[in-house]
Amino acid sequence: MIEIKNVSKIYQNKMQTIKAVEDVSLTIQDGEIYGIIGYSGAGKSTLLRMINSLEKPTQGTVWIDQENISDLNKKALNQARTKIGMIFQHFNLLWSRTVIENIELPLEIAGVSLDKRRVRAKELIELVGLNGKENSYPSELSGGQKQRVGIARALANHPTILLCDEATSALDPDTTESILDLLLKINKELHLTIVLITHQMEVVQKVCHRVAVMVEGKVVEEGTMKEIFLKPKHPVTKRFVKEENSCNQETDLKNVYTDGILYKLTFTQENSRQPILSQAIRYSDLDISIVQAKLTNTQEISFGTMYIHTSKNHDQKHQHFIQFLNEHNVLVEVI
Ligand SMILES: Nc1ncnc2c1ncn2[C@@H]1O[C@H](COP(=O)(O)OP(=O)(O)O)[C@@H](O)[C@H]1O
Ligand SMILES: [Mg+2]
Repeated sequence: MIEIKNVSKIYQNKMQTIKAVEDVSLTIQDGEIYGIIGYSGAGKSTLLRMINSLEKPTQGTVWIDQENISDLNKKALNQARTKIGMIFQHFNLLWSRTVIENIELPLEIAGVSLDKRRVRAKELIELVGLNGKENSYPSELSGGQKQRVGIARALANHPTILLCDEATSALDPDTTESILDLLLKINKELHLTIVLITHQMEVVQKVCHRVAVMVEGKVVEEGTMKEIFLKPKHPVTKRFVKEENSCNQETDLKNVYTDGILYKLTFTQENSRQPILSQAIRYSDLDISIVQAKLTNTQEISFGTMYIHTSKNHDQKHQHFIQFLNEHNVLVEVI
């Protein structure tokens, strides 16, 4: 378990004082995939780097399995760090070393013999799907393959925690998907705790169990994916959810459908796989046109949003339609 208790980080230079992280408290359970989302400069990397003590908090403490990581001597810290792997946006590979040599590096530093290193590196190459690439150099790999090397290297010492700093931000959407699938796989197979920071809601949506939203050094909201997606509270969270979840041109739709009524329906897990819409139409006898629809899947829930257009007439039909949907846990909003 990772416990971040009232942690602040202040950078002081000649010109100014920067509060990179301000009074953050979070608890991350073993085996969880925990997302921290925020725009650039929100303090995500600084917070992540305090988990493995690459940065020391100005105030507060970070506990890993009841051990205060900020308080360890050098030897104990090095020992603790072997249990925390990290991957980066730009991979941070050594260009003069082959794939297998990159993966072996942490083991070499830990003084593991060449034989044992090779055995472990080969296991990892298998795990991350880099068979046949053992002797390639990083410059000969695609972005996704480089990140696979990064992941294999981070796992070399059998860590229990993996920290991911914008690990998919330099990758195209398909490669992002495949790397996220790999993170899901190692989370399940190795029961690894993953802390992932990102500015991309689609990343959080796909893999995380819980998420914290950071704005200007502070955590402004925290919750399960279900809570965050269905009931975002802070304006920044709403913006992230909206980007992921709404059609991009909600205002455009309003301009196209100037007469009649545009409804946005939000279907939740309990009902997204049932024929509720056709039932609601039959029940209310309201004619509708579907304008746009999208289904979103998270680890926990799947739900969809749908935009529909109707004429303004027949007040009672509208009432019945909305009532039926509300009774079946479909959120109805007029746009
Ligand atoms: N070593 C440092 N010295 C001074 N300021 C820093 C340092 N690292 C980060 N900052 C500042 O702290 C704030 C948060 O940065 P960072 O944690 O990198 O944000 P994020 O990862 O969310 O983009 C930014 O204003 C950044 O300029
Ligand atoms: Mg960062």
